[in-house]
Amino acid sequence: MTELWAPGVSSGSREPFNDHSEIVEITPAERDLGEMTLRFFRTNIQRAPLWSIDFKNRMTVINRPLRGERRVQLPYERSDSTSYPQLRLEALEQEEISPYLVRDLLYKKDTEDFLPDFTRHSKALFRNLWGITRAYDQWGYEEGQHSDVLEIILESQGYSRDELFSRYFDNLSQTWELPFTTPRQITAYAAFQEGSTQPSYQAAAERADKEDAPVTAELLRLIGRDEGYHWASYIGFLRIFFGADPEGTIGDTIHVARQFRMPAINLIPEHAKGFVNAMRLGTYTPDMETEAIYSTLVSFGFIGKKLARQTADEHRDLILATTSLRNHLPGNLNPTPAR
Ligand SMILES: [Fe+2]
Ligand SMILES: [Fe+2]
Repeated sequence: MTELWAPGVSSGSREPFNDHSEIVEITPAERDLGEMTLRFFRTNIQRAPLWSIDFKNRMTVINRPLRGERRVQLPYERSDSTSYPQLRLEALEQEEISPYLVRDLLYKKDTEDFLPDFTRHSKALFRNLWGITRAYDQWGYEEGQHSDVLEIILESQGYSRDELFSRYFDNLSQTWELPFTTPRQITAYAAFQEGSTQPSYQAAAERADKEDAPVTAELLRLIGRDEGYHWASYIGFLRIFFGADPEGTIGDTIHVARQFRMPAINLIPEHAKGFVNAMRLGTYTPDMETEAIYSTLVSFGFIGKKLARQTADEHRDLILATTSLRNHLPGNLNPTPAR
């Protein structure tokens, strides 16, 4: 456990404080990649948050027009204090979603709540890669809001804040450690992860729509939109790695694609039940993940479609062979009743 403060500091040494430091070698390759990733970050990724949550006034703060045909429809409301229509969080109180969707959102929140470990590792791993470390600051802010939104939705469905906070701390009492070891592998991993997360939120939003919960659905779409943006960011970063070392980058990318699993899935309470539930709801299926792997591989632009298909299929075979998912494939499950 970390000591939060030391007693009696004032009675200690009178010596002046000195910084503690260690020498770190920054290689020429890291300088090059650092500069290239920084340029990419500044011109393609850096942004003011697309949206945030105003807890005090119980509303979203959407900062620019949302593209897409649904944006002008309800449940968005004109707001006096901002330029764009907003979602009122009180409206969630009128929505009742099914226990299946509630469980799925809880499962998603558990995953998002490993954020301190995701950022802790990324900061250490990408310390010398300037642009990626800058991107992680922005990423961490956006990801933190995903958990906030899920908390707000779950509260509207009867969970108490105490219950959710204590679940958060229980979750945090174990760490998530990196599934791969190098910055390049983790960049590829992050692209596959974001590419798998986006359709999962999209599917959850569609389910919320079917359950007549439009505000819940729109909040989930806001999260999904971020995940799609993150996906594109990591694709851009991996292309920079490819420019520096094509052969090595292809090798790492294929390796990570084959081995890919979503982060922290085995650390989440009752994860097997969470998986079965998500497959019944359609918010996760092995096919969805396989297609995310395939389209991410193709989107990198340096892997041909044939190799991408073969790799995505190998990934699917591997997860089905090494987990109990095979027993829970959609054909073996009764779908959840749509309401
Ligand atoms: Fe997220
Ligand atoms: Fe994300």
